[in-house]
Amino acid sequence: IKRVTTRDIRARKGAEPIVVLTAYTAPIARLLDPHCDILLVGDSLGMVVYGMETTLGVTLDMMINHGRAVVRSSTHACVVVDMPFGSYQESPEQAFRNCARVMAETGCAAVKLEGGREMAATIRFLVDRGIPVMAHVGLKPQAVHAAGGFRAQGRVDAEAEAIRADARAIDAAGAFSVVVEGTVEPVARALSAEIAIPTIGIGASAACDGQVLVIDDVLGLFADFTPKFVKRYADLRPIITAAVESYAAEVKTRAFPGPEHCFGLPKT
Ligand code: KIV
Ligand code: NA
Repeated sequence: IKRVTTRDIRARKGAEPIVVLTAYTAPIARLLDPHCDILLVGDSLGMVVYGMETTLGVTLDMMINHGRAVVRSSTHACVVVDMPFGSYQESPEQAFRNCARVMAETGCAAVKLEGGREMAATIRFLVDRGIPVMAHVGLKPQAVHAAGGFRAQGRVDAEAEAIRADARAIDAAGAFSVVVEGTVEPVARALSAEIAIPTIGIGASAACDGQVLVIDDVLGLFADFTPKFVKRYADLRPIITAAVESYAAEVKTRAFPGPEHCFGLPKT
């Protein structure tokens, strides 16, 4: 295997920070691949690509189709595919069946699932059977209805202790890394220091062992809602708007297509 492996990622604890971005499609995967250690096919695609309000409507088939596109269109990064809501929570056996499908049908190196202590037995079951698992603690978007909305996690002591216990449990269960989302800095710092596997932060401070962002947020393409933790590195929307306006105007005036775009014109 020439790509970055899950073992390489695990070994990066305490070394250079791990670079992760989401990718959902072939052209974006091609562009990001040389610069990323991990390409995450996140179930955020439900909102970002499909215009859903939450990630809860994302299906296994959607994840498999996009996972396949990203694996096909990358050669360097370790590709991790999110398990969608309802595809792994029922039992270790259900999780194995669906994770094995994702691994087999996409060619990805690992899966990600949301959960801490309640998913530890499932993570152990998967890892023992050859499926590398990235866990996801703190703010868990698939639990948005149970949590009553999106808000930063770990502000009160009981919540802080629960997140740290979650991180320790998934570490002990054999996960190779863990996303820590929307979690206050002191908690992200403490749990990053007390577990052996790398933490990948999103809204969880620079104390994590790596960072992940949603690519459409980075590029300024997704603007329905921008949480505090997003940094927009480019603003592509005005560029796209200008291009489409020019195209529309040129079609209407017949300036496009020009002779250079036409077949079979007499040579002049
Ligand atoms: O779905 C997703 O994109 C994610 C990352 C933001 C961690 O889970
Ligand atoms: Na996700």
